[in-house]
Amino acid sequence: MKKILTGIQPTGVITFGNYIGAIKQMVKYQDEYESYIFIADLHSITIPQDPKELSKNIRSLIALYIACGIDPDKNVIFLQSENEYHANISWMLECNTYFGELSRMTQFKDKSKKHANFSAGLFTYPVLMASDILAYDVDYVPVGIDQKQHVEIARDIAIRFNKKFGDTFNIPDVLINDDGAKIMDLVDPTKKMSKSGENPKGIIRLLDDISEIRKKIMGATTDSEMCVKYDEVNKPGISNLITIYASVTGKSIPDIENEFLNANYGAFKKAVADVVCSLISKIQDRYNELINSEELDRVLDNGIVKARVIAKAKYLDMKNKMGLKR
Ligand code: TYM
Repeated sequence: MKKILTGIQPTGVITFGNYIGAIKQMVKYQDEYESYIFIADLHSITIPQDPKELSKNIRSLIALYIACGIDPDKNVIFLQSENEYHANISWMLECNTYFGELSRMTQFKDKSKKHANFSAGLFTYPVLMASDILAYDVDYVPVGIDQKQHVEIARDIAIRFNKKFGDTFNIPDVLINDDGAKIMDLVDPTKKMSKSGENPKGIIRLLDDISEIRKKIMGATTDSEMCVKYDEVNKPGISNLITIYASVTGKSIPDIENEFLNANYGAFKKAVADVVCSLISKIQDRYNELINSEELDRVLDNGIVKARVIAKAKYLDMKNKMGLKR
């Protein structure tokens, strides 16, 4: 059976972009593939976090995974920091990764500009991500397009390690959802919708009030043409709303253009708001049932046992091959 794995950082409430880029794909494939999904809390501390907020966000993210349809019986769900082998594997991989290749990571370049005194962890972040992926010999890594370069470097590191020390890792492929590869900010649709976005009006968070979400969509930036047509360059706002509508309804872009051929932007936005609000309010109902339940701890307790066994075996294999033994 093919294996699939992804992770999300518990930095603030996750966005509709995270849902489309990662979670929805995991839900789609969980019946077909052996599935692993974790909370990338070690990645989140590459930038400073408030400890209390962080642990609150971790719990909230587990509840959101399940509320979004990640089935604990079909997925190994775990907390990255509870599996010490990820960081151990990461060190061995770091020693097989070049400074130059990490310097070229676009996300590092962007994030390091925003923080005057950034951590070494921010620089080696992609290697920890490679260890998350390679420890499980996964076939596919479903992510949004912004993480593609990180999956590619994981492949490069794996190929290099296999060449140097013998066959150790499966080479993973990135899995990117066609229609929702990148959900853009509602206010500035030339920028990705991001948890850390500056203007809250541009971001749909899965735990926002439903009435707020409706307002944000109705207020989304569009253009003066009054024509629902997909054109990322000249009509980024409308194109983003089409992408959102397509990703929720499963309809194709031409079908959507046809459906709203004679509609004005107000009517189109209302249709987008209706489908998004209906989806998110179902997620929130389930979230509210789960957030204070012990089920969350049971899920993580089960998940970590399985994840540790697999990652430990990979760690020992690497250590052995590299000569780290008496
Ligand atoms: P993170 O927490 O930034 O984002 C989680 C996932 O959401 C996707 N995403 C989006 N997709 C579409 N449109 C958007 N606007 C949007 N914003 C975010 C991201 O591409 C990602 O798939 N480094 C990773 C976490 C990670 C990981 C891993 C992922 C750690 N180890 C191993 C996969 C495999 C991250 O920071 O994602």
